[in-house]
Formats: sequence, structure tokens, C-alpha cells
Amino acid sequence: MADFLASALNANLTAWRSAPAPAELERVAIDWIKEAPGCDPDAGGLFMSGGSMANFTALAAARHRHCGDAVATHGAAAHPAPLRVYASTETHHSIHKAAALLGIGRANVREIPVDACLRMDVDALVRAIEEDRVAGAEPFCVVANAGTVVTGAVDPLAEIAAVARRYRLWMHVDACYGGFARLAPSARPLFDGMSEADSIALDPHKWLYLPADCGCLIYRDPEAARPAFSLDADYTRVMQTESAEAFAFWEYGPDLSRRFRALKVWMALADAGSRPVGDAVEGNLKLCPSPGRACRRQG
Ligand SMILES: Cc1ncc(COP(=O)(O)O)c(C=O)c1O
Repeated sequence: MADFLASALNANLTAWRSAPAPAELERVAIDWIKEAPGCDPDAGGLFMSGGSMANFTALAAARHRHCGDAVATHGAAAHPAPLRVYASTETHHSIHKAAALLGIGRANVREIPVDACLRMDVDALVRAIEEDRVAGAEPFCVVANAGTVVTGAVDPLAEIAAVARRYRLWMHVDACYGGFARLAPSARPLFDGMSEADSIALDPHKWLYLPADCGCLIYRDPEAARPAFSLDADYTRVMQTESAEAFAFWEYGPDLSRRFRALKVWMALADAGSRPVGDAVEGNLKLCPSPGRACRRQG
């Protein structure tokens, strides 16, 4: 119903000024969504077509923070050293695709082995970073999984966050599949450390039970991402001086024209709240076979 209304209304959420009420609704819906991964009040983000786009956007922000304007202006060849992204062998292929499209290169996504529970081996991550630094490459981003595409494994997020801090890497969490499982009390401890990430990709069109065409990217500090997407042109120049009215979604992601995806998120959560989602996920988890012996041993 919400998708039907959104199509009929045909609001275009480029910025507050193009669609003030829908833009406000998107910001409210994002504020509700960001409670699922336990983000700080200062976190912010936007809806997009799906998780692949959210992962792409996060890598673009991470690359820009590391390389600055030189690569955005002159292309990847302008950067003096190979860039490195780290992700487990279980990572969704949209990360490799993003690396290819952003000129980072698929070969520069270094795949880190996993343990018996298919979670990233953090010691192997540290070894890979050290090796690359010695070889003259530049580690700039680590992607952790909060629910891998094949088995739903959740990487040790708090440990990975500590490594990211130590080596000053952008930490992105691909929580497209599993992120909303944090609403289920039995799964919650798995997600400790997720809110420390610089960015989190979540798919409301997966475990928020919404229809397709609803991904989401949350930034811990939206202003850290903005330089990657902000460009000046006559038709994008912001005249408003009040900060809410000057807000433009195009400064936080690649899209200019954007659908009113927030309506279905807002309607679902305004109607039911997040508790029924947690209960439903809990019910889904009970359908899973119990984890193998190796995983039980590791908790
Ligand atoms: C872990 C993970 N990341 C990313 C994606 C891509 O999401 P989308 O299909 O919304 O682009 C998926 C899809 O299954 C996924 O499971």
C-alpha cells in the first residue's frame, strides 16, 4: 500500500526543498532504523535501492576519506599506492563489484580466512594488514559481516572495530541480511561493536519484512561521508540557510532523484513498532538447525 501511495504521490526526495514532508519522514524513519544497530543519536543516513548500492556508497565514502579529492578529480591512477580493502572469504560479491567500479580493483579486496563458524579470523586480518603495509600498499577499509549471505555468520565486530581503530581504517559493516536480527533478544550479543562502525548497510527489504527496493546506509558521522558526494552546480546550489531546510540527500550518496522509500518504512514502524519485528525474527531463528559443535564450542 505504501509503495502504491509513494508511486501515486511521486515525491522526488533529492533534498528537503523538493519534498519537505517526505524528506522529514525519511529522516524520522532513518532515526528509527538506526536504533536497530544501536547507533548514536548523531548517526544519519539515507535509503537507497538495496544493499549492493549501500555497500557501493560506503566504499566510495571510505575511499574518499582516505584519498581525498585527488582520486575523485583525476581517477584512481592519481593515487600513488595500491589501496586495500579487507573482507572475509564469505563476503557478498557486491563488495568486490564496488571495488571494481570505484577503481580500487577487485584484486585489492583481500579475502581474510574464516574460523570454523565462518567468521573472520581477526589474527589473519592483522597479519594481512601488516604484510600489505610492509609491501607498500595502503590499507584503508575493512568490511565486516553482520550476517553473511550464505550462512548468516556474524563476524567478531568488536574485535574488528578495535583493529580498525588501531590502523585507522574505515570500518563498514554489511548488515544487509542480518542487521535487524539485533532486535531479537537471543541474537543481540552477536552484534556488540556494530555501532562503532563508520558505516552500516541494512536492507529493510530483507529482515524488516518490507517489499523490494529498500536498502539503507547509516553513517556514524555523516559529515565524514559528505565530501565524497557533494558537488556544486547551479541546479544543486542550496539557498536555504536553516539547516533542516538546507539538507540535501544527494550530498550523502550517488543518487539525485530518489523514490519515497521512507513511506513504507515509516508506515510499518509507526503501525507496529520494532518489537513485533524482533519477535518475528526470534521466531525465524528458532527454525534454524542448532549450530554445529565447532560453533557451540566458540560460543
Ligand atoms: C550480506 C548481503 N549483502 C549484500 C546483499 C545485496 O543486497 P541487495 O540484493 O539488496 O542489493 C545481500 C543480498 O542478499 C546480502 O545477503
